[in-house]
Amino acid sequence: MSSSNAPLPDFTRLPEPGPDMFAAPLQKPAHVGEDWLEPAQRDYSSEEDCIWDDLFARQMQVLPGRAASLFMQGLDRLDLGRGGVPDFGKLSEELGKLTGWSVVPVPMLIPDHVFFWHLANRRFPAGNFIRTRETFDYIQEPDVFHDVFGHVPLLADPTYADYMQEYGRAGWKAMRYNRLKALGALYWYTVEFGLIMEGKDVRAYGAGILSGPTETVFSVEAQSPNRIMLNVDRVMRTDYVISDLQPTYFVIESFRELYHDTVERDFDRLYRSLGPGFTYANTAVIDVDDVLHRGTQEYHLRGGRGSGAAPV
Ligand SMILES: [Fe+2]
Repeated sequence: MSSSNAPLPDFTRLPEPGPDMFAAPLQKPAHVGEDWLEPAQRDYSSEEDCIWDDLFARQMQVLPGRAASLFMQGLDRLDLGRGGVPDFGKLSEELGKLTGWSVVPVPMLIPDHVFFWHLANRRFPAGNFIRTRETFDYIQEPDVFHDVFGHVPLLADPTYADYMQEYGRAGWKAMRYNRLKALGALYWYTVEFGLIMEGKDVRAYGAGILSGPTETVFSVEAQSPNRIMLNVDRVMRTDYVISDLQPTYFVIESFRELYHDTVERDFDRLYRSLGPGFTYANTAVIDVDDVLHRGTQEYHLRGGRGSGAAPV
């Protein structure tokens, strides 16, 4: 992602998005600055700490044997199950020693260019709030459980940590070409919903999968979804669904391969060749695909979320 025809911006300060760059219009709360960082992580009530503990315990019932080994190691090394919502300061200290990353609190979803800037500086912006008992099973807006439990363990792995930083740097280039959708699809199918080979087994490493029990099982075991080896060009042309289980997952061999596949790619050329929309539907299997499992799509054909269809 670093190969470029134009010089990369200076990532030490927040670059200004140019007038031609598309940026989602998010209303910045009055109490945060241009970096969108909360002055401090909030204090959680004992009920909120309990919600974290219950979510953590529920995930530990389903993760062994389904989550990537490096994810499980990260959970362990960072001791995310020590009780209650983790303290970002303490977490950043431990993570800093391992890979130089830190975790910083933000109030909500933040604009793309600010998100990329934090990643490029090895800061992971994490939602400050935690879901309630009423939204225990599903929330669309990422909360502290999704962001910290789902994303932070792999930041303890040096290769994955480098991939995330490169992704942040690449974001600026995608914005210059107005191809954020394409880069967003890469994030979606790797960082949020990625699978990885471990020997002959497929395991999950994406945060969107590993922060909930249903998709943890569905992604690696169900017959419905396609499982296809990741091809970066193809994935960046593929549509995705944000409010249901994925009809297709893409599988990597290793984080090293993912890092090289993306860092060494000529993104200038790729962005020039991409159209503004997606080429492939999220259920499509195409000629060039290296298919591990061709899904029945039964779950989605029966109506998906809200229809009562079983995630099989
Ligand atoms: Fe996420």
